[in-house]
Amino acid sequence: MPSTVVIGAQWGDEGKGKVVDLLGGNADIVVRFNGGNNAGHTVVVKGQKYKFHLMPSGIIQGKKCYIGAGVALDPRVLKQEIIQLGGKFEVKLSIDPRTQIIMPWHNQLDKAKEVAKGDAKIGTTGRGIGPCYADRATRTGIRFEELVNSEKLGKKIDLIYPQKKRLLKEIYGQEMAMSKEEIFKEYNALGTEFAKHLEDVSIVVSKNMNEGKNVLFEGAQGTFLDNDFGTYPYVTSSHPTAGAIFTGVGIGVRPIERIVGIVKAYTTRVGEGPFPTELEDDLGEQIRQKGAEFGTTTGRPRRVGWFDAVLVKTAHRLNGFTEITLTKLDVLSGLEKAKVCTGYECEGKTIDFVPSSLDDLKKCKPIYTELPGFEIKEGTTSYDELSKEAKDYVAFIEKELGIPAKIVSVGPGREETIVR
Ligand code: GDP
Ligand code: IMO
Ligand code: MG
Repeated sequence: MPSTVVIGAQWGDEGKGKVVDLLGGNADIVVRFNGGNNAGHTVVVKGQKYKFHLMPSGIIQGKKCYIGAGVALDPRVLKQEIIQLGGKFEVKLSIDPRTQIIMPWHNQLDKAKEVAKGDAKIGTTGRGIGPCYADRATRTGIRFEELVNSEKLGKKIDLIYPQKKRLLKEIYGQEMAMSKEEIFKEYNALGTEFAKHLEDVSIVVSKNMNEGKNVLFEGAQGTFLDNDFGTYPYVTSSHPTAGAIFTGVGIGVRPIERIVGIVKAYTTRVGEGPFPTELEDDLGEQIRQKGAEFGTTTGRPRRVGWFDAVLVKTAHRLNGFTEITLTKLDVLSGLEKAKVCTGYECEGKTIDFVPSSLDDLKKCKPIYTELPGFEIKEGTTSYDELSKEAKDYVAFIEKELGIPAKIVSVGPGREETIVR
């Protein structure tokens, strides 16, 4: 398997975790390069469900896993995840010294900022992601190399704590939930525990790629949550697009053989922001229930809508997909018809891309093509077993996007997969 990047092509929760687990079987190493524990990646193997927020999903395949500098790491969450693995899997994990650490004030500020925004809230996961990346940009973040060094950690907390305490009090009217001493004690212990995982991920991944090893990059979030190219400001604070692997890991720009766009057979989104093909009716609720569309991280109901080819075509421009994996096709099974949005009508003009301005996007009305519904039999594992109508649905999407769907997923389990 050549080096591969797995990228969410919509608004996240496309099924990246499942695909990383699947492709992880042939990978030498698995690498996370963006986002933090705002991600929730579910993997189902032999009926057993695993939920990861930080740990790369390649862990179940027994692969060595890496967390690159571009990740925002909450050590409390990572600790919980390792505990939940219950020693069933050997934790072969390295973390880059430059990785930014999510501190308790980031969590508190994330929530406080959302409350202060009122109706204009983003609908964040409340995991401190935005404030942590903001501190990276303003050069006041704490990095993993500092977390694992008591002296450096102490100095950093001494410097930052009073600033954050004042910010919380004066702008948001809140007391800091923990004292400086409590924070140092807890995070110093976490740093001591995780020190064994420190390794320069940039060096290791570069070396692996230079040697032609099979490196699998696990994207978190989805293209339209990108801090620049997503539906700003209703986005996350990192870059979930393929280009971010180079800056998020620290490797030279080079051709990547396989850029897999993970595409749900319909569309979902968690949190606020525009969603042209959203179904706010009973059908939307039916799909939400059947697809178990409730957030892995926060449990919030995901908003649901028809497949939006304009969105995924734009994702293709932003990522350069070499193939897509079409997930959750089984969820549409049994519907009378399925609609696919093939263009937007925007103030009298028809467009086939997501406009840069949110105001323009809000005015866009989807143009639909209606396709016949289809049934998917349980236990389907080959393309030939699919009904003509189901194949037509897949072929229609492939044609609209101009990208082959080399993998079609028809259930959460590793084996519920059609590899063509
Ligand atoms: P990720 O964030 O992209 O990794 O996706 P999530 O794990 O948050 O959400 C995808 C959900 O759909 C998970 O609960 C998966 O177990 C489940 N899933 C993945 N592929 C399929 C599929 O083809 N069919 C069905 N029914 N469920 C799937
Ligand atoms: P995975 O990797 C779906 C959304 C949040 C919110 C916005 C900003 O599981 O696909 P943040 O906490 O990042 O500041 O929230 O981004 N969001 C996700 N939605 N899947 C995710 O990750 C997400 N990560 C962030 O709901 O709208
Ligand atoms: Mg998810």
